[in-house]
Amino acid sequence: MEGLWLVVLVIFVMALSVQSQLKTGFYSTSCSKAEAIVRSTVESYFKKDPTIAAGLLRLHFHDCFVQGCDGSVLIAGSSSERNALPNLGLRGFEVIDDAKSQIEALCPGVVSCADILALAARDAVDLSDGPSWSVPTGRRDGRVSSSSQASNLPSPLDTVAVQKKNFSDKGLDDHDLVTLVGAHTIGQTHCQFIRYRLYNFTTTGNADPTINQSFLPQLQALCPRNGDGTKPVPLDKDSQTDFDTSFFKNVRDGNGVLESDQRLWDDAATHKAGGRDSDFN
Ligand code: HEM
Ligand SMILES: *[C@@H]1O[C@H](CO)[C@@H](O)[C@H](O)[C@H]1NC(C)=O
Ligand SMILES: *[C@@H]1O[C@H](CO)[C@@H](O)[C@H](O)[C@H]1NC(C)=O
Ligand SMILES: *[C@@H]1O[C@H](CO)[C@@H](O)[C@H](O)[C@H]1NC(C)=O
Repeated sequence: MEGLWLVVLVIFVMALSVQSQLKTGFYSTSCSKAEAIVRSTVESYFKKDPTIAAGLLRLHFHDCFVQGCDGSVLIAGSSSERNALPNLGLRGFEVIDDAKSQIEALCPGVVSCADILALAARDAVDLSDGPSWSVPTGRRDGRVSSSSQASNLPSPLDTVAVQKKNFSDKGLDDHDLVTLVGAHTIGQTHCQFIRYRLYNFTTTGNADPTINQSFLPQLQALCPRNGDGTKPVPLDKDSQTDFDTSFFKNVRDGNGVLESDQRLWDDAATHKAGGRDSDFN
């Protein structure tokens, strides 16, 4: 369970490091119902589709990784962050919009979208039977959102060395990297992002040899050689909607779905970083 709490802690620290004047219950007098509205809104979408939780958590991560947790990922526009390549698959915007409209009706111009997103991600993890945590609020929404800035979001094709560098540029160490990627215990990817591992990996004519031999035929059945690239694939093969620790066991057993997830086991530093707190055990 330790790994889970670290995910939470690191998200919390990421949020804090950006703005230092946040406090728990920032809206307790100016808009006392704000947190409850976010909670009930996330709950109602979650009841219809539990996979939305993963969408909200990833949305929060992609917001925070570019210019801090300032809501800039939510801004519409052809050259905004939202339209950058790594963000095209983001989902859950409608949940934030819905909560924002209800809150605006009650207390116009008070609660930031950035806070609504940070709260929604917390509630989404909690509803997925993960841990809960208190979210300090008082973020101000950014006014700048540019797709070129979103190019620093991690790619599943980057080496571990690049991931480590890109996270350390944000003050996050190897252990933070491994822990945060543990968020892939919920949610999904798509055949187009993993098929290259399944058939002709690095043009050898074979699959990526690090894929578990019993898992490989399952992935190949899900993603045939010339099949639909937009077909969803769970990131955690056994419990896609539970925020548990099975992601780390999967990676240990060669059952990581994204190449970048599986490589964390091969790299000495991230292997050890995971091991230090038994994430991989
Ligand atoms: C090395 C760092 C990371 C890489 C390379 C990475 C890459 C990816 C990719 C490729 C997907 C699938 C996208 C798709 O198929 O549409 C994904 C999904 C996801 N990522 Fe990450 N990610 C990283 C770190 C993180 C972190 C730090 C978090 C949150 C704390 C996170 C949360 C998620 C979630 C929840 C999903 C599922 C989204 C859904 O179901 O809609 N990821 N990630
Ligand atoms: C990520 O790290 C790589 C390798 O150090 C570097 O070339 C790249 O610019 C970094 N990406 C960003 C935009 O942070
Ligand atoms: C794998 O890819 C290489 C390079 O594109 C190609 O020459 C080769 O025929 C492919 N092998 C298989 C088995 O598809
Ligand atoms: C392959 O995955 C299964 C669980 O799905 C696990 O029991 C087994 O140990 C894994 N094999 C290897 C070589 O890690």
